[in-house]
Amino acid sequence: MNNTTFESHFGHPAQAAATAHGRVNLIGEHTDYCGGLVLPTLINQKIMVQISLRSDFQINGFSSEFGSQIATISEVASDSWLRFVDGAISLMNEHGANIEGINIHTHSDIPAGAGVSSSAAFEIALLRALCDVTNISLDPKTMALLGQRIEHEFIGTKCGIMDQMAVSIAEFGQGLLLNCQTLETEAVPIPEDCCVAVIHSGSSRKLSNSLYNERLSETIEAANQMGCENLSQASFTDLNKLSDEILIKRSHHVISENQRVMAARDALLANDVISLGTLMTESHLSLRDDYEVSSDELDHLVSLAISQGAYGARLTGAGFGGCIIALMHEDAADEIINAILDNAPKAWLVDSF
Ligand code: GLA
Repeated sequence: MNNTTFESHFGHPAQAAATAHGRVNLIGEHTDYCGGLVLPTLINQKIMVQISLRSDFQINGFSSEFGSQIATISEVASDSWLRFVDGAISLMNEHGANIEGINIHTHSDIPAGAGVSSSAAFEIALLRALCDVTNISLDPKTMALLGQRIEHEFIGTKCGIMDQMAVSIAEFGQGLLLNCQTLETEAVPIPEDCCVAVIHSGSSRKLSNSLYNERLSETIEAANQMGCENLSQASFTDLNKLSDEILIKRSHHVISENQRVMAARDALLANDVISLGTLMTESHLSLRDDYEVSSDELDHLVSLAISQGAYGARLTGAGFGGCIIALMHEDAADEIINAILDNAPKAWLVDSF
């Protein structure tokens, strides 16, 4: 670990450091807050957090990406990146940490606003570093739930649990099948002779918070009208109980997406990348037509990937901009990726594995 930046900024070495990787979701989009199934995995990009303790109730932050800021614990401005730090300290103190201020340096190569969980990675890296410096041990699931509470209580994003669970628990080369109702997980190996390319559309998410919250309310309303606890408890037959076209489309997406996640798990276990690709593309079409969270740029990239020979492709993350993932044979990967990028001048390759 390179301590030079921390030391030259703060005048002493860091007491603890931790990293966390971003994630992409292979399939299972907008199902987590409906008690449904998701299948994310890690990307190579990561954030590093270095900290030392203070005792004057100050948070002194220095970020290669977000700049320098200083604030008092519990009095951090709502638009400051130190909100994440304040949230992590407050929740760790609930677990007996007794933190009275920190110096913090962060450095990240996870693109922000791209749908690859830069925020969840920050939360988990922070919690890992704070656990280390306070000698508190939290299991990865508890850490994920704390990360989600930082979003809900300190940032104001009513996200599901997928991102924090993926970042905290997933391993390279394996999809993490997660039941977001029970938080049960199963590691599902990704076949070695395929390649997943993560390609940024060149436009970051637009209006994502308000549109995300709108989808969340629509799913709650639809579940209520069908008399179900959440949309993952509903069946296609229950759709007859709905009269609003929008609610029918949203529910159709969630019910069908849960089925696609289970089918994708089976395809992965059977090394059946062709079926997996088809399921990914079906997921994209459902997100485009029923859930209405795609964009022209994302649709264009998905079409390009398929026409260039990918097994399948879909938007990943919340949508409204950000990234697609495309599944392809590893021998054809360079050619397919270059052809996609040649035909979409604003797009760029975030990762491939
Ligand atoms: C964002 C949220 C997740 C999930 C996805 C959509 O990444 O943070 O909880 O809802 O969107 O699948």
